[in-house]
Amino acid sequence: MTSDASSGPAILIEDLYKQFEGHEVLRGIDLHVDHGESLVIIGGSGAGKSVLMKHIIGLLTPDRGEVTVLGKSIGKVKQRELYELRKSFGKLFQGAALFDSLPIWENVGFSLLEHTRMRRSEVRRAASETLRQVGLPNVEDRYPAELSVGQRKRVGLARAIVNKPRILLCDEPTTGLDPIMGDVIDNLIVRMRKQLGVTTFTITHDMKSASKIADRIAMLYKGKIIQVDTPEVILRSENDIVRNFVQGKRPSAEKGE
Ligand SMILES: Nc1ncnc2c1ncn2[C@@H]1O[C@H](COP(=O)(O)OP(=O)(O)O)[C@@H](O)[C@H]1O
Ligand SMILES: [Mg+2]
Repeated sequence: MTSDASSGPAILIEDLYKQFEGHEVLRGIDLHVDHGESLVIIGGSGAGKSVLMKHIIGLLTPDRGEVTVLGKSIGKVKQRELYELRKSFGKLFQGAALFDSLPIWENVGFSLLEHTRMRRSEVRRAASETLRQVGLPNVEDRYPAELSVGQRKRVGLARAIVNKPRILLCDEPTTGLDPIMGDVIDNLIVRMRKQLGVTTFTITHDMKSASKIADRIAMLYKGKIIQVDTPEVILRSENDIVRNFVQGKRPSAEKGE
């Protein structure tokens, strides 16, 4: 594998193992996401989807195997390099709360205010522009409590993309939203991807959402990726476990033994 960031996939996961106190969560994951591709991970609750994503940003380290992002091995880079690499990520996380005491524009521009030398006026401009992209003009000076749940989620998306990330990571972006607002978020992710050419890695258990966002869908089951293919193929999978899952019949034992 070359270390040149311009060749190879955006994200490469090789033979990844992770256990917590003897509970093997990931048991040999091999997966890649091409530059500009949108990959969706599906799987039951507790299957290890969030654990897998945390390895991509280096929040967790593998027991075995390797995760390479933009040509850099996450386990091998120095702290400082990992810090730089993290700037290439936009993150839309489950329950990632906004700061109630900060106006919306400061919430969106938080990372720019913290980690760059941009002036407040420049950050404000970037935040306003990004808020417009997610369909929220004129909310810069409002506070999170003044917005609806769906609007706050869109603010979260604006915060995730304000630094023009090369990789967008979304952990259950539509969970807790009604179907209409879920649709709005899905459409935004699709549009952001087209506009920014961003590589997208999304966790969801909403199949409608998965089919809409994904170039490919990967199913995580008992610590392994049991199938990865286009939404069309996954929806008509010949694998019983995958088919039952996508058709809403949840497998009974998804945590592995
Ligand atoms: N930091 C941790 N310490 C111990 N166990 C963990 C930790 N993070 C996740 N787990 C366990 O790993 C399993 C997978 O969790 P997770 O990846 O969050 O599932 P999901 O697929 O629902 O996102 C769960 O059994 C969870 O309890
Ligand atoms: Mg999770």
